[in-house]
Amino acid sequence: MAEGIAGILGISKVIPVVTLTDVAHAVPLADALLAGGIGIMELTLRTSGALAAIERLARDRPEFCVGGGTCRTANDLQRVTDAGAAFAVSPGATAALLAAARRLSVPWLPGAATLSEMMNLSDEGYSCQKLFPAALCGGIELLKAVAPVLPALRFCPTGGVSPDNLAAFLAQPNVSCVGGSWIAPAELLQRAAWSDITRIAASAAGQAAVSSVRKSCA
Ligand code: 3PG
Repeated sequence: MAEGIAGILGISKVIPVVTLTDVAHAVPLADALLAGGIGIMELTLRTSGALAAIERLARDRPEFCVGGGTCRTANDLQRVTDAGAAFAVSPGATAALLAAARRLSVPWLPGAATLSEMMNLSDEGYSCQKLFPAALCGGIELLKAVAPVLPALRFCPTGGVSPDNLAAFLAQPNVSCVGGSWIAPAELLQRAAWSDITRIAASAAGQAAVSSVRKSCA
């Protein structure tokens, strides 16, 4: 679904990108993020328990918006949909993924890193795209260059976003939100350091809120 993803991206200006190794961490992590003011995350399909974690969250925390990330194949999109993910994310976009996304009902955020990729996705109806890997493919300067030539597109830059550049990314008119792993990094997840994750989430949400006010006043 090309149109549903815009509403999902409106939930939070910052979307934690999380790789979970312990399924039992899914619910406490969602609670820690919610306590910090973030009600959404992308759970990557990079561990064997990722789908079970999505299933658990969809069942036990229906108020929390969990997406399935790193969807590389049509089968990945099918599996995150079946697990109950509210949305799906891919680092890029292939013909097979586009065909599966047309068939499935899950809102999908496809990835792009070049103008041609952005234009192809735009032709397919995807005006919301994940800019990935954002810092490496041109970052803020690329977003500035793209804005006048593809003015209808909105991006979720991910890959290299950090507390240091968060405000600068969010200040771009064509950025609707950002994604990043710094909010729930592996080291804090391993230690089940939920209060630390809440603190980082609250700080990111606070920075994003200041950015939003600045942007709307600009
Ligand atoms: C992703 O999976 O989207 C990125 O790898 C997250 O990038 P980051 O670790 O630089 O935030």
